[in-house]
Amino acid sequence: MQLTHHLILIGPMGAGKSTIGRFLSEQLNLGFIDLDKVIEDRAGASIPWIFDIEGESGFRERETAALKEVLQEPPLIIATGGGCVLKPENRSLLNTAGQVIFLEACIDQQIERTGKDKNRPLLQTDNLEQKLTEMAELRNPLYCEVATIRVDTNNKPPKLVAQEILNQI
Ligand code: S3P
Repeated sequence: MQLTHHLILIGPMGAGKSTIGRFLSEQLNLGFIDLDKVIEDRAGASIPWIFDIEGESGFRERETAALKEVLQEPPLIIATGGGCVLKPENRSLLNTAGQVIFLEACIDQQIERTGKDKNRPLLQTDNLEQKLTEMAELRNPLYCEVATIRVDTNNKPPKLVAQEILNQI
């Protein structure tokens, strides 16, 4: 399949954006970019370090710069970070960038998939369920606003989700 636009994966932490993105990349023979990785490469530092030194606002500035940079490339599969939809500027960029696929995951699945992760600064909390619920309340309407396709990932292996996406595009 020859794509003329980017395929951009959005959704909460633990939705499987990077894993599913890699499967799509193999199936479509298209490059894959993980936006978090671009941010880390450009900063020469890890995401926890960026949050530590520059705060979330510093990270968000870097995220917008990285998004602008990758959208200039020829068609790619792009996995974004869960908070990429927070800034209106990013949502406008996503609106005109290609197919935007919202990978939906319930709170229980997110906890199962991210529970012990030390690389996600926003999840280093005593009450993971509460934090993820607050984020979902704020962010779910924003994911819906920019999504062109929505796919439920709950209790599904990433390969199956990737196949469902391929059937829809
Ligand atoms: C974040 C999600 C992370 C990463 C950063 C902030 C968020 O990416 O960008 O820790 O605000 O939801 P993943 O969704 O790939 O974990």
